[in-house]
Amino acid sequence: MKSYQIITFGCQMNEHDSEVISGMLAQRGYTETEENPDIVIINTCSIRENADKRFFGTLGQLKKVKIANPDFAVCVCGCMMQQEHITTKLRQSYPWVDVIFGTHNIHEFPDMLEEMFEKRAAEGEWTVKQVRSSKEFRVDRIYEDRAEIVEGLPARRLFRHKSFVNIMYGCNNFCTYCIVPYTRGREKSRHPEDILDEVRGLVADGVKEVTLLGQNVNSYKGKTKIDEKTWDFTDLIYALNDIDGLERIRFMTSHPKDLSDRLIEAFAKCEKLCNYIHLPVQAGSSNVLKRMNRKYTREQYLELVRKLREAVPGIAISTDIIVGFPGETEEEFEETLSLAKEVCYDSAFTFLYSPRKGTPAAEYVDQIPEETKHVRFNRLVDIMNEGSKSRNAAFVGRVCRVLVDGPDKKESGILNGRTEEFKLVDFEGPEELIGQIVDVEITASNTFSLRGRMV
Ligand code: SAH
Ligand code: SF4
Ligand code: F3S
Repeated sequence: MKSYQIITFGCQMNEHDSEVISGMLAQRGYTETEENPDIVIINTCSIRENADKRFFGTLGQLKKVKIANPDFAVCVCGCMMQQEHITTKLRQSYPWVDVIFGTHNIHEFPDMLEEMFEKRAAEGEWTVKQVRSSKEFRVDRIYEDRAEIVEGLPARRLFRHKSFVNIMYGCNNFCTYCIVPYTRGREKSRHPEDILDEVRGLVADGVKEVTLLGQNVNSYKGKTKIDEKTWDFTDLIYALNDIDGLERIRFMTSHPKDLSDRLIEAFAKCEKLCNYIHLPVQAGSSNVLKRMNRKYTREQYLELVRKLREAVPGIAISTDIIVGFPGETEEEFEETLSLAKEVCYDSAFTFLYSPRKGTPAAEYVDQIPEETKHVRFNRLVDIMNEGSKSRNAAFVGRVCRVLVDGPDKKESGILNGRTEEFKLVDFEGPEELIGQIVDVEITASNTFSLRGRMV
């Protein structure tokens, strides 16, 4: 049977889609490998510029593999396939790509792959010339959007003890810099019963922690199948909290504009909901937020942080920030710095603004020079790191519950795990503990992780 390798770029959505692709292929008898696979699948991301460059670079490399071995198959999918200028380029200049599918038809991939192999088999022997212009064997199917959700697809999880669970797909927010609403389509929520069934199944299979995924989980609206009642995100959290055997619930991402008081209260009331929230602010200036179409102000965001910390003392907060959004003045940027100092985040993902074709902000005339973006970026990172360092230092001396993920990649005898606050902890221990929750006393801290001793 043939072997495959999946190369994944992008966010947790894409990682989870790759787990589903892997699950479907495994179900049909294909095996996963990292060495000389017969099939390579590249799951792409469109969020920032260098992703495109890496993608086309990887394809160039794969052409060489294909010339050496005409049986080799190159498949591409993910967010970039939902962008017309990308698929046009692929179709015209990359004839050695065999299967092209998008974010709305992942479930069709195994059939598409087999269809391609059948077409090829019908042609008999392959020649290098055919490889160079193999488009005629290509199976290429992309949908713009899809209203229904395909349920019941298998997934091959990366970890035995924890899992991603999609609760919704797509995004309706159209932040002016962002490509996601174009690549993932309109927002659709799964039925609550389907989510609960999936989580019960995962727990029966050894899962202790689930991370609920959606571009904006706070706008989840799932209709029950029996009486068509609408559940919101907090209803779902309470129901999940009642599942026996499940130990931890996380979610991402939460849009500040829809973060409700009821959800904040749920952090205090649901013991399984971890004391951690990823709350992307994007910018510290209300003016910039307005131009980004984020629908909240600096003051409203700070008020949310205050409420969260009041209701859940010790809650860890992380964020995403974009530096150099079109028209961002020095004063507006300094408002981002002052917000970062004021909030003192546990961790942050900071990005240089990258114009995305088809989004409104890419057309704004006042783009910021790269040089200025870089200087601002470095200033921000310094502040963010100071924040993380001081938040981490406060953990020293505390005993934390740590879910053990696996052995450290560099140091033998050392295990890695996460606290409820999503802090990475290294400590000495036997590998039998992987997948268990253990008590670890924190003995030292630095900017990105903690060190501890099992108690
Ligand atoms: N749905 C999530 C974000 C998904 S994209 C949310 O709303 O928070 C992840 C992050 O990528 C965003 O939070 C943003 O900070 C960053 N990002 C998105 N588009 C970008 C762009 N054009 N340039 C730079 N960063 C971008
Ligand atoms: Fe993009 Fe905004 Fe939707 Fe997040 S909420 S995916 S940043 S459009
Ligand atoms: Fe990238 Fe698509 Fe995720 S653009 S960040 S993989 S939703």
